[in-house]
Amino acid sequence: MNKLIARIKQIKVTPKFVLKVFFYLFLHFLYHLCEYGNQWAGSLRGGMWKIGDSGIPYATLPGLFTALCTLILIAWVVFYGKLGYYTSIIILILRFIRLTIKILNHHLSFLPGFFLGIAALVAVVLIYQSNRQIIRTQQKHRQELEDFTKSIINAFTNCIDGKDAYTNGHSYRVAQYTVMIGKKLGLDQKTLDKYYNIGLLHDIGKISIPDAILTKPGKLTPEEFDIIKSHAQRGYEILKDVKIQEDIAAGAHYHHERFDGKGYPGGLEGKDIPQVARIIAVADAFDAMSSTRSYRKKLPLDYIAEEIERCTGTQFDPEAAKALLELYKEGAFDHLKEKEDDNTF
Ligand SMILES: [Fe+2]
Repeated sequence: MNKLIARIKQIKVTPKFVLKVFFYLFLHFLYHLCEYGNQWAGSLRGGMWKIGDSGIPYATLPGLFTALCTLILIAWVVFYGKLGYYTSIIILILRFIRLTIKILNHHLSFLPGFFLGIAALVAVVLIYQSNRQIIRTQQKHRQELEDFTKSIINAFTNCIDGKDAYTNGHSYRVAQYTVMIGKKLGLDQKTLDKYYNIGLLHDIGKISIPDAILTKPGKLTPEEFDIIKSHAQRGYEILKDVKIQEDIAAGAHYHHERFDGKGYPGGLEGKDIPQVARIIAVADAFDAMSSTRSYRKKLPLDYIAEEIERCTGTQFDPEAAKALLELYKEGAFDHLKEKEDDNTF
């Protein structure tokens, strides 16, 4: 019962959903109309429905209406899965009870209808079972594809994070913070799953940056800094033809764009920057400041929060930054605080 209530709560009333409910009820109307037609045709005594020189004998009409009823039962199973299956079964059981009473009262003319009902029952059960088998196979294939995609993305992520001992785990944390921010912004689970993968691969361009520059402890020369900055464009080049997921290159390409348009590589501004990249930019900066790097120790959380607040609307998307600051105030990052004592400036 609780499961049913939980499922009902999950229902979203979209136009497609309303149309589906309407069609379900319309099939009910059609079915009962055909049943009524069947009874009406059964009451006719002899005669013929004249069409030109020939015609349709009234005696064939009950069979026609019974066939229409069976078609509607099958339509329910095909279009409404379990709900349609149970609807059809309940209707058939009621029909069997009605026909059995009539036959027991010596109305043997109802025997053909009884056997047609059995044929309809067999058809409904077979179609439902074969549909379920097809759906199970499709789900299995989808799961295998998802697992494969996940393993490929994880392999790439390990390559990225393995480039620099100091940034180890950075991609996983950025992906995790991206999802936390996305959740605060009210994004649905499907989008959050997509953003998680995009977050994991945001720094993939660093694979093609020489280690000597990437892990250099001292100050970078302007040329070296330009090479580091090129990882955004390089990331896009690596991912642009990868079809494992829609927009997979968006994070890598745009996560160094700034809300005020002063970022790189494209200098995009405000909402022209894809939402996922605006969120990753905040998550990336937060993790960079809260982790020890080759050139500095990690910074205290209070200081990081002030920095994010200070750069809201200039470097960072106000909505994404606000969401991260709310998470910080709620204590979502308190576990980082415990470790900051000896290691921070
Ligand atoms: Fe980056």
